[in-house]
Amino acid sequence: MKQTLKGLVLSGGAGTRLRPITHTSAKQLVPVANKPVLFYGLEALRDAGIREIGIIVGDTHAEIEAAVGDGSQFGVEVTYIRQSAPLGLAHAVLTAEEFLGDAQFVMYLGDNLLRDGIQGLVEDFRTNDAAAMILLQQVPNPESYGVAELEGGRVVRLVEKPSAPKSDLALVGVYMFGPSILAAAKAIAPSPRGELEITDAIQHLIDIGERVEPSVVTGWWKDTGMLDDMLEANRLILDVIAPRIDGEVENSTIEGRVVIEEGARVINSSVRGPAIIGSGAVIENAYVGPYSAISAGVLIRNSEVEHSIFLENSQLDGIDARVESSLVGRGVVIRKSDAKPRAYRFMVGDSSTIGLI
Ligand code: G1P
Repeated sequence: MKQTLKGLVLSGGAGTRLRPITHTSAKQLVPVANKPVLFYGLEALRDAGIREIGIIVGDTHAEIEAAVGDGSQFGVEVTYIRQSAPLGLAHAVLTAEEFLGDAQFVMYLGDNLLRDGIQGLVEDFRTNDAAAMILLQQVPNPESYGVAELEGGRVVRLVEKPSAPKSDLALVGVYMFGPSILAAAKAIAPSPRGELEITDAIQHLIDIGERVEPSVVTGWWKDTGMLDDMLEANRLILDVIAPRIDGEVENSTIEGRVVIEEGARVINSSVRGPAIIGSGAVIENAYVGPYSAISAGVLIRNSEVEHSIFLENSQLDGIDARVESSLVGRGVVIRKSDAKPRAYRFMVGDSSTIGLI
């Protein structure tokens, strides 16, 4: 009898493209519609019938472990596997060798989001006995991804972030493997960026004549590694969120698809969905417009916000111009100051971006 399929979720990595948020926090825990992006992946694996999940962690392990725990909140069993340094996705697979044994597994990059989940794809893989199944999607900027070349429906070549891509089919950050990927990961050498690339390990499987099945993903897919992707993922999820008002609403207008969590207060304000307001947040004399995700404990007062993500306990108070397309970190305070002399006063972390008008 075949062993059950396992899950391997990658949640190490430095998240350099989301600095400064990732100076203090793991990129996989940045929320999309107020839920850490990593949780969507864990739920997708669970919904595909996977119970045993290994999570590869790095420097941010304590934070990931505190958020995910033993996995019981998702109905799965989690084993944490420590990767000494972010030396590549194939290196992460090797780090998990003991956990994986000779099981088939789904490798899921913790910052990826797939609208339609992976249930059907996992079913296909379980039954077709390929060495690997890779998910692909057409993108306008293939040079930012691993790129696949197909011939007559078969994968013939995979290249990691090519400067002159031969196709526009990007590798989605969800892969299905049989145990032969371990030997392939051992057979390859580090890439020019010094990492053991999973793309090269899959190419090795092709080179030794193993079967690698492509599957083009039709529903939306987002790698949330950068601000614009994060905002887009937020839009996509808010567009389908089920409206619900559990918090207090006083003398305010709520329009469209809006979630107001228990313990949140909306006073003398206007909230136009799709939007979500987390527990303990206070919206006062304010406007919160479409595609805003306001986390727990946030204060928006005498200000207007649209198309933005505010993380826990941040504050926006008394700002005249509307705030748009912004990602505001935890505990950040942006407020009007009446102190003299009249001046902008900043205490801003490394790699922050501020757009003034
Ligand atoms: C990784 C993979 C790349 C893949 C991408 C998908 O890139 O190396 O092949 O297309 O994930 O999210 P990274 O985001 O680590 O640069």
